[in-house]
Amino acid sequence: MYTTAFLDLPPLRSAAGTVRLPGSKSISNRVLLLAGLSEGRTRLHDLLDSDDTRVMIEALRQLGCGIEHEADALVVTGLGGRLAVREASLFLGNAGTAMRPLVAVLAVLSGLQGGRFELSGVPRMHERPIGDLVDALRSLGCRIDDLGQAGYPPLRLAGGSPRVDAPIRVRGDVSSQFLTALLMAAPLLSVQGPVRIEVVGELISKPYIEITLQLLQRFGVHVQRDGWQVFTVPEASVYRSPGDIHVEADASSASYFIALGAVAASAQAPVRIEGVGAHSIQGDIRFVEAAQAMGAVVHQGPNWLEVHRGTWPLRALDLDCNHIPDAAMTLAVMALYADGPTRLRNIASWRVKETDRIAAMATELRKLGAEVVEGSDSLTVHPLRQVRAAAIHTYDDHRVAMCFSLAAFHGLIEGLSTPQPLRILDPRCVAKTFPDYFETLFTVVRAEVADIPVLTIDGPTASGKGTLAAEVAKALGYHLLDSGALYRAAALSALEGGVDAEDETALATLAAGLPLRFEPGRVWLGERDVSEDLRREDVGALASRISAHPGVRKALRQRQLDFRRLPGLVADGRDMGTVIFPDAALKVFLTASAETRAERRYKQLISKGISANLATLLQDLQARDARDRSRIAAPLRPAEDAQLLDNSALSIEASVQQVLAWWAQRRPFG
Ligand code: DC
Repeated sequence: MYTTAFLDLPPLRSAAGTVRLPGSKSISNRVLLLAGLSEGRTRLHDLLDSDDTRVMIEALRQLGCGIEHEADALVVTGLGGRLAVREASLFLGNAGTAMRPLVAVLAVLSGLQGGRFELSGVPRMHERPIGDLVDALRSLGCRIDDLGQAGYPPLRLAGGSPRVDAPIRVRGDVSSQFLTALLMAAPLLSVQGPVRIEVVGELISKPYIEITLQLLQRFGVHVQRDGWQVFTVPEASVYRSPGDIHVEADASSASYFIALGAVAASAQAPVRIEGVGAHSIQGDIRFVEAAQAMGAVVHQGPNWLEVHRGTWPLRALDLDCNHIPDAAMTLAVMALYADGPTRLRNIASWRVKETDRIAAMATELRKLGAEVVEGSDSLTVHPLRQVRAAAIHTYDDHRVAMCFSLAAFHGLIEGLSTPQPLRILDPRCVAKTFPDYFETLFTVVRAEVADIPVLTIDGPTASGKGTLAAEVAKALGYHLLDSGALYRAAALSALEGGVDAEDETALATLAAGLPLRFEPGRVWLGERDVSEDLRREDVGALASRISAHPGVRKALRQRQLDFRRLPGLVADGRDMGTVIFPDAALKVFLTASAETRAERRYKQLISKGISANLATLLQDLQARDARDRSRIAAPLRPAEDAQLLDNSALSIEASVQQVLAWWAQRRPFG
């Protein structure tokens, strides 16, 4: 997961390959609660692990449900309809799929069995309306106190005496989750008789109600439905665990990869999505039809999809999106690639989601240069005719972040000016439903190598360049190349294999064949973790010698180039800016004085319990500097266009800030 302040996407050119998507949020949070209400144990497979499911799991734990993590399942031991805990404060983040049903279920249970429960969330959760659900529950006889603004969380559920002698009426045109919540609470009331729920006004997002009904059925409750207006839960309905239940992959998440295929994949190398397909119970699977209408070619099996580009540019669309409210956001970005304006209608519910999504999409699409018309319950997006490098604000809304990543393909639009990088602010918000979204995206998209940004950091020994490079890479979410580790690994292999330090040919062959593998913070040589061995003094000394052989340098060149992968690279080492990545967008050369560096190394050694002498260290450093500067192959010197940074008096934090400030100047985001 990217936890950086922003993530920059270079212009993207094509997509191909297979993705496995995380479990559906809607299904995950429903089955979690149903398992929590059932008698006995339920094993949940392929559950989504995200912010929204974590708050639900934590709430169930607080309510006294058993939660056990097994290797391939989460096992929930349910309450069997009886409250185990009579008082709790539940924090539900920004998860509507946790807040709404828990309010209904706990209002009813506290009414029937006694209890006090406080439910709250993040500030945005307290701006998302819940009044219609609260009204319906109060009309039943539940006692619910507003702890903030009336009609919004936080709420206190404080008993009452619910009765089902009259039908429960609930509005269906603000959020279908109110009906879902009542449907999930209704079986708890059915001891008193059948529970009849009547929807007032047009029911929106019907497919989500279908999911609820299907899952209630899996847990033993068979709701009778009369059109989309009247729902009846039979008398004495009881939740029964189905034992095992599998969660299908998230169809809304699939929309980004379907769009990816439609925009950027060829018939020979489509985008394949596993875990969700034609047999899905999720309404958002119908996004497939919308994508097809725009020109995508889609092949599907029961639980897989394969997508590639058909019509190009895409066909503009005028669509009622009520049945695919979440996935429709993806259409708004696909519209940039269409042959005319695309109009998305009947999307008023966007205004009460994680953010006001109509306003958010309009604002951010305009930043890119698109013409957008915002209606009260519609959005019209014109194809992109000019593009600006844009920093996309994501409003703590996972879907804004995910769908805007698709705008990075604007280089594929004919006649557009030079493609621009795209900045996604606060990429961490995807954790709500798809923590590894960007990592997954990067496994199936390609950029031109020259478009992938590189930042090089170099300097004399003990200048702190390794630490600085690692910190900068972390701040940007970029890959890190510690090129010294390659030379050290070659040296370690040479030492252990008894290869002569002057035998250039043998060393070059050895360097070319090294079975090296890099993990964050660790280096593997074959099956062996050599991270510690690489730091040895004898290894460093030999690395310094063998790195003077041009043949060795040449043998390691391609491996270093291979580190230039999406979304970008920070490369540390002496010839990064001069030889390996001469086109790097920023080159930094550290120039701390020999005295400062000697002191740093001295402190480092002493802190490790190794005895050291400052004067000797200084002499050694000066000698090594002289040798490094004067050697013929890759002498130590700053690239002509390098920024010099004397970090003698700077903390690491201050050095990182300086480098990031230079980086910001070179980026087009203003
Ligand atoms: O940065 P380091 O101390 O891990 O580097 C080990 C040796 O490898 C060092 O003496 C210089 C050499 N080296 C090189 O010649 N070119 C690089 N790009 C990186 C390191």
